[in-house]
Amino acid sequence: MSIKNLIEQRVRAAMSAANIPDDCPANIALSTRPEFGNFQANGAMAAAKRLKSRPRDLAAEIIKHLDLTDIADHVEIAGPGFINIHLSNQFIATQLQKLIGDEKLGVPVPNQQRVVVDYSGPNLAKEMHVGHLRSTIIGDAVVRTLEFLGHDVVRQNHMGDWGTQFGMLIAELEEHLGEGERPELALGDLEIFYQQAKQHFDQDEKFAQKARQYVVKLQSGDHHCRQLWQRFIDTSITHSEAIYLNLNVTLKHSDIKAESAYNEELAGIIESLEQQRLLVEDQGAKVVFLEELADKEGKPSPVIVQKSDGGFLYATTDLAALRHRSMTLQADRILYFIDARQSLHMKQVFTLAKKAGFVNTEIALEHLPFGTMMGKDGKPFKTRTGGTVKLTELLQEGIERACTLVREKNPELGIDEVAAIGRKVGIGAIKYADLSKTRTNDYIFDWDSMLSFEGNTAPYLQYAYTRIRSIFRRADINFDCSTGNIILTTQQEKDLALKLLQFGTTLEQLALDGYPHILCNYLYELASSFMTFYEHCPILRQDVVEDTRSSRLAISQLTARVMAKGLNLLGIEVMEQM
Ligand code: ARG
Repeated sequence: MSIKNLIEQRVRAAMSAANIPDDCPANIALSTRPEFGNFQANGAMAAAKRLKSRPRDLAAEIIKHLDLTDIADHVEIAGPGFINIHLSNQFIATQLQKLIGDEKLGVPVPNQQRVVVDYSGPNLAKEMHVGHLRSTIIGDAVVRTLEFLGHDVVRQNHMGDWGTQFGMLIAELEEHLGEGERPELALGDLEIFYQQAKQHFDQDEKFAQKARQYVVKLQSGDHHCRQLWQRFIDTSITHSEAIYLNLNVTLKHSDIKAESAYNEELAGIIESLEQQRLLVEDQGAKVVFLEELADKEGKPSPVIVQKSDGGFLYATTDLAALRHRSMTLQADRILYFIDARQSLHMKQVFTLAKKAGFVNTEIALEHLPFGTMMGKDGKPFKTRTGGTVKLTELLQEGIERACTLVREKNPELGIDEVAAIGRKVGIGAIKYADLSKTRTNDYIFDWDSMLSFEGNTAPYLQYAYTRIRSIFRRADINFDCSTGNIILTTQQEKDLALKLLQFGTTLEQLALDGYPHILCNYLYELASSFMTFYEHCPILRQDVVEDTRSSRLAISQLTARVMAKGLNLLGIEVMEQM
């Protein structure tokens, strides 16, 4: 149990003993200032309002029944009726000692759920671009955290591999292959290939006609078209997978369940909606009108599920995917990491899937939206000439910039070391800059701030980690074998210890609402806490007695373990030196 929950339990018990109704919460929070102790119980004020008594009197009554002798060495009333709790050094030391022996670093065992996570989902018609970067790295951080907590996670990469564009693309590919070109060569640059096909389509009516025919043929399973399409898709997937590898993202080939995989289900979805009398014909198209999502004037929200030419839509596929995830994959919870601009779409498919019984009634369906990545000019991130920025090139630039920095900082490193460290720093910086911003906001992509060694950045945290490792190297102590007895004497040791004990709660929070910046802030505070500790509490100095030294080494080692684990959950690598 977390310290917060433990205190909560005790305070609530004291409240009951003081005849305060069960539904008045203890309201435990971390203290806002050191002089207010470590935790505050703020429930007395609201309870006093209910009972029409004086809050300070009620707080005194609670304290009379409150037994925290094994936890705190001092409890007091402050202000209008706050109860300040000062934890005892002994208690914190004991808790920390337990953490050292715990492989899961204090993370509580959850009620295990099967969580399906939909993330990345690039469109295969084009090269993966910055628009899919956020979904990919935020989703991956949450997935890693859920798994570490002990949930049963199923990744689903809902790639866009279906739809009208593919008629045009396979018609173009057919011509290239007809001229004897190999598919890998023709599709070496998907961006250029797409432009060529589009130009062809716009300028050559015969080609356009063939492209339109190919869409229909593809959807009805024509062998030739299917084969061309498969070649195209395979190459495009290879491009995405190279990026996943470079980005240190855990998505595997087997996590792909692309739009085309639901093709056979779509007619059945329409049939089911028809049988349930949810469908209306509107100008030849099949539409569901959702009263649940009516606008201010009371006009219901229309969801088109089949076009007048018989074609299915993005929404139809998402309904089939929801049914698969609930009924076949047996999800308790489904998370979607998709751009905020698709909020209405997500609301519509969630509402409709529930209404039509495509998902179990108890399932939790959550769209976790994110804002747009902006350039320094405050406009959506583009190349200087206004084109889309290719992800491969962006990552390469990050790595190169990081290598330059690493070389400047540590000229003694060999070429290979610089390359290995630069990769971790460059990729880490790009990911951390994104993950450390509140997910739902837009954010500005800026090389200089993300690669800075000061402030809330990946290089700062990676560097803090290497500093701890270097203490062990200098003392010639095996990092993995340092297990001292914890003794807390100074304020800095106590602060650092308390921070370390918050790791579990931080991860629980992240798993609950999918905001990775919570973990980033935590790690930044942890690193800062460590730096303060390191300044004030000598470890290897001659005059430090053996017990103190081994305690401080153990605290340092634990800090490094928590930092490495936290960064690992964000998909960021650490190194022994930089
Ligand atoms: N391919 C889509 C896009 O680029 C994202 C897919 C998200 N997942 C989903 N189930 N709709 O917009």
